[in-house]
Amino acid sequence: MSEIAFFHGLLWAFVGLGAVVFVALFFIDAPYGRHRRAGWGPTIDDTLGWALMEGTSATVVAACFALGDRRTSPVAITFFLLWEAHYVHRAFIFPFRRSGAPRRMPVVVAGMAVVFNLMNGYLNGRWLNTLSPPYPDGWLTEARFLAGAGLFVAGFLVNLQSDETLRRLRAPGETGYKIPVGGLYRWVSSPNYLGEIVEWCGFALATWSLPGLAFAVWTIANLAPRARAHHRWYRQKFPDYPAERRALIPYLL
Ligand SMILES: NC(=O)c1ccc[n+]([C@@H]2O[C@H](COP(=O)([O-])OP(=O)(O)OC[C@H]3O[C@@H](n4cnc5c(N)ncnc54)[C@H](OP(=O)(O)O)[C@@H]3O)[C@@H](O)[C@H]2O)c1
Repeated sequence: MSEIAFFHGLLWAFVGLGAVVFVALFFIDAPYGRHRRAGWGPTIDDTLGWALMEGTSATVVAACFALGDRRTSPVAITFFLLWEAHYVHRAFIFPFRRSGAPRRMPVVVAGMAVVFNLMNGYLNGRWLNTLSPPYPDGWLTEARFLAGAGLFVAGFLVNLQSDETLRRLRAPGETGYKIPVGGLYRWVSSPNYLGEIVEWCGFALATWSLPGLAFAVWTIANLAPRARAHHRWYRQKFPDYPAERRALIPYLL
């Protein structure tokens, strides 16, 4: 089988899997963070789990870039830097800065995320660095790139700022949960997820690619049900939870 046939087969399997996961997550809350519970088998240190899960994505795309034939292309270098800005932070900075006591996550959750990141990293990395038709030299000044890169940066900043707000809710040694306030928390319970979704929709636009679109759809499939679960959890736990706050999209959802 040629690599391009394998690539397209994997891409459609990835999209199909995303649809299954989207439906499943409306019935099962992924058992990590506030939704962790017994019955999901052996566990590993949660910080190690995050570094392994997200480091997979950073590593696979770095390998695709290094082994591809576009290492001197400004377009490929730009896509690579956007990707790595997110994933180096997510794998090697974010997990080590979180507040609260050391915690654990089920091996099965970390394992599924590693498989997801292997597939997603290969699909996006290989496409952008080798398999796609070459991007024209002027791509970085095209409207699709500029709008997409703008969304990516805006989403990234919202995600960083919202995660930082959560981090500051706990004093050293504290482990519980509080009502977050400020920034986009005024309107939604999970602005970190909203930022992440905007970020990858921006990447899909900037790269104008099917793998980028598949990843954006996967991000929505993963994070929209979890935002809904967080919102329901906040409302049950805090009787004074702001009534006007929505789960993910201001005024709507
Ligand atoms: N692209 C994707 O598909 C994808 C998937 C998953 C996550 N992510 C990203 O990864 C990051 C973390 O995700 P997550 O699911 O762990 O987010 P989360 O549930 O919002 O938790 C983020 C961190 O803040 C703490 N926290 C959350 N709410 C809190 C509160 N009310 N009071 C005090 N501390 C609180 C959590 O502690 P605990 O761990 O103790 O709950 C955790 O350390 C986010 O930026 C998200 O966008 C992306």
